[in-house]
This record gives sequence, structure tokens and C-alpha cells, in this order.
Amino acid sequence: MLAAGLGTRMRSARAKVLHELGGRPLVRYPLAAVAGLEPARIVVVVGHQADEVRSAVLASGLPVDTVVQAEQRGTGHAAQCAVPALGDFDGDVLILYGDVPLVTTATLRRLRDAHRTEGADVTLLTMRFADPTGYGRILRDDAGHVRSIVEHRDASPEERAITEVNPGLYCVRSDVLVPLLGELRADNAQGELYLTDVVGLAARAGHTIASVELERPEEVAGINTRAELAQMEATLRDETTRRWMDAGVTFEDPATAYVGPDVTIGRDTVIGPNVVLRGATRIGEGCRIDGTAFLVDTMLGARVHLLFACSSDGAAIGDDAIIGPFARLRPGTELGPRVHIGNFVETKKAVVGAGTKANHLTYLGDCEIGPDTNVGAGTITCNYDGSTGKKSKTTIGARVQIGSDVQLVAPVTVHDDAYVGAGTTVTRDVPAGALVVTRTPPRVVEGWVNRRRAGAKARPAAPAVAVKAPKPVKARAKAKTPRAAKSRAVAKPRGRRTGRRS
Ligand code: UD1
Ligand code: MG
Repeated sequence: MLAAGLGTRMRSARAKVLHELGGRPLVRYPLAAVAGLEPARIVVVVGHQADEVRSAVLASGLPVDTVVQAEQRGTGHAAQCAVPALGDFDGDVLILYGDVPLVTTATLRRLRDAHRTEGADVTLLTMRFADPTGYGRILRDDAGHVRSIVEHRDASPEERAITEVNPGLYCVRSDVLVPLLGELRADNAQGELYLTDVVGLAARAGHTIASVELERPEEVAGINTRAELAQMEATLRDETTRRWMDAGVTFEDPATAYVGPDVTIGRDTVIGPNVVLRGATRIGEGCRIDGTAFLVDTMLGARVHLLFACSSDGAAIGDDAIIGPFARLRPGTELGPRVHIGNFVETKKAVVGAGTKANHLTYLGDCEIGPDTNVGAGTITCNYDGSTGKKSKTTIGARVQIGSDVQLVAPVTVHDDAYVGAGTTVTRDVPAGALVVTRTPPRVVEGWVNRRRAGAKARPAAPAVAVKAPKPVKARAKAKTPRAAKSRAVAKPRGRRTGRRS
């Protein structure tokens, strides 16, 4: 597989095969298709951003060898670079490009099988495009045999009118391929060694050339520009949602559902508008995602209900849980069955037991919570010490009641059945069944409001009110006004200061 090019037409600093389709680098797609054939070896030619492309290739987990094409002198040159890696391999070599992502294993198998049943030396796929711009054209002789391939840039107007094109998938006997690669010359518009010239050289040398025309050309379309990438994204998206609809999933608006290639979705799940499912996300059966959700590597059990606007990365959510609206689940979140996570609740490394609820405005980080506990509104697990970067753990038992506006200063444990009063800052462990509460008794000043308003009326204007402001901090800040008045008074001797302070 050839994946060394920069992809000039992408106008990008990134190698083309690293651009993403369905949230996954382009290069991974043809690789997965080829792996389905279980070939003896897979060799990928890398060049531009070789290290990054190699990592993307290895991330597939497939046994792949990479070779480096240090200077990109064309697809024929890239194939030459792969020859030493073939070693003493003797058999059929499948050559494909890293920028043809939608090709399937079935199509590659068809190419290989045709090659073998026809006993050909070289076999290629062909397709017809109403607008073949950019593709190499297939030239045939009067008997209909493939004679050669001419690149778009090198083609005459008559040749450009040919709509049968080369998708760039070939099967060649190794003993035919290697000597012909040695004969390639760069006498063309781009001054490159073209792999496509192998076909013409093989025909001239009297080798047998077979071809298979594909019915669905979209499958082997190459990506050379951002517009083609966007088009392909739409095609892929369409195919994916269709596949899941066939498997029993409802999409309220398939046009705004973005389901990645590795995502799985259970039967009778309903997906609302504007939902993005990425990475290794797995959705169970009978779930409901209301709309506007962004889920990466997230597991949903059965019958989970995600209300409007949830974001989740690396979370696992148990059966019958209810999440959102506006919930943010971060990596390490593990929610048991029937858990409720409500609006404006953030979780990270939070293991939450069955039936536990945290319904409003809460941060649960680095914590473990038992079953059937209720976490009140505005609860914060204070996990970060603010300087060393160390995160400490909060442990909360089963059936615990945590009141509203509680801070749990980790490391701390609240044992089973304990109650934490509203407004409490928990700084040490709470035994099972205990009540913990920190309260400053409220001070009630009877009649304070009326006195304050009466005072305001007695004073003529704004500066006096500012001086009377109840909080010392504010009073200082506003004190500027009377000071300014004072300086004015100095400047204008006839002015009179007002307010009780005078
Ligand atoms: C190529 C074919 C063209 C075919 C089209 C199908 C040639 C000369 N032309 O054109 O007939 O219709 O694909 O999509 O082969 N690469 C390298 N090293 C290089 C140059 C390219 O590894 O020096 C890799 C690229 O990373 C890419 C692939 O080869 O994955 C194809 O290169 P690209 O430049 O896209 O060729 P096309 O112009 O599309
Ligand atoms: Mg291309």
C-alpha cells in the first residue's frame, strides 16, 4: 500500500493519508479492507510525516511492515521502494493506494479471484465516471484488451474523453512486477515514475492483462482534495446510518447523525438530531439519545436515556441510567444501572453505584460512590490540591444523603447511611449512620431593611449611599466617590460636602 505522498491538492501541512474520515485517518480504511484478505504480508510505503503515518498504521493493530520512500518520485518509485521488503516472496502482489478509503474486502477479493481464475499476469479494476477528471484513463485496443493507462495530465483531448478510469487497485505476479518496475521512466508531465506505466510495459512484453469493471465506482473513488474528502464523509455517513437502520436503529434525522465506522448500536435505539458517535462507542438496545450529543469511546448499556446536550468521553453507563440534559462525562466515569446524572453535572474517574442520583450542578471527580446514594445540588468533590497536581479520592458509601452545596475535601470518606447537612464542608471521615454538618448560625437582624431604606431617603444622592454600603470591601472601593467629591470641594471652595460622614 502506497501512502508516502504529501497530497499537494489538499493544500495541507499534514500528509494526506492522516486526514480523517469518520474520525479515523484515511490510511486505516484500505488497510482494514486488505487485512480481511489475510495476505501473507502487508507492506506500507511511508514518506511524508513517516513517523505519524507509521503510528497511524500501527494503531490498527495489524501486523504491518513499513518502508520509507525518502523522496516522493511517484507511485512507481514508491512501489520500487517496497520491493526489498518483499524479500523472497513469490506470488501475487496486490497494490493499492492509501487515499482510496471506501474499498471493501469483497472488492479486493474479486480482484484477486479474477486474477487467479483468468491466470493473468497483471489484473486491474476499472470503473466509469461521467466526470473522469483527474483519473488515469484506460486505453484498450480494438479487441478490447487493456493496452495501457494514460494519466489525466498526459492525456490528449481524445483520451480525456474516455470515461473508463483506473481506480488504482492492481494484482500482479511478483516475478512480472519486479523487473517491470525497473523499466519505469519519468518521461511524463509530472517527471515522476508512474506505477500505471507497469500496465503498458506488461502489455508490450506480451503478458496477460485482465480487468474487472466495478458497478459501484463510488467505492473506489480516491481523495485528492478537501471537497472530495467532504463528499466522501457524506457518502460514508449515509452508508453507515443506512446500515444501522437496516439493523433496527431509528434515526430521527439521518442527515445530522454522525456515526463512526467502529461504533455499534443496539436494536430499537432511537437517535435524535445532531448526534456524533465516535471511536469505539457502543450503544446498547432500546436506548434513547434525545439530540445534540457528542460521545467518544462511550459505552451505553440497555435502555439508557440521554437527554438533550450531553458530552461523554471514555464513560461507561449502566442499564436504565438517565443522563442530562447538559451533562459532561469524562474518562474513567463508570455509572451503574439506574444512575441519574442531571443537568450541569461533570464526572471524571467517578465510579457510581446502582440507583445513585446526582441531579444538579455538581462535580464528581476521583470518587467512588456506593448504591442508592443521593448527591444534592451543588456538591463538589474537592480533589485537587492546587499546587502539586496531585488528585485525592473521595469515597462515599451506600444510601448516603448529601445535602445541597456540600464540599468534600479529599481524601475523605463518608461511610454508609451517613447524612451530610446542606452547606457542609467535609474535611474528615464521617462514620456510618452519622450526621455531619458545619453551620455558622444565621444572624437575623429584625427591621434592617426598613432602616436601610429610610437612611437612603434621608441622604440626598448617590455618594452618601456608597459610603453606607454594608460590605467593608465595597465600601472601600466606593469610597473613591466621596474622595473625589472632597477634591472637588477643595478645587471649588463654595461646594458643600454631603453625607453623614461630614
Ligand atoms: C493515481 C494513479 C491514477 C489513478 C488514481 C486513482 C498513478 C501515476 N496514477 O493518481 O491513474 O486514476 O491514482 O485514485 O499512479 N504516493 C506515494 N509516493 C509517491 C507518490 C504517491 O506513496 O511518490 C502514494 C500517495 O500517498 C497516495 C497514492 O500513492 O496514497 C496515490 O498518489 P496520488 O498522488 O494521489 O495519485 P493520483 O494522482 O490520485
Ligand atoms: Mg490520489
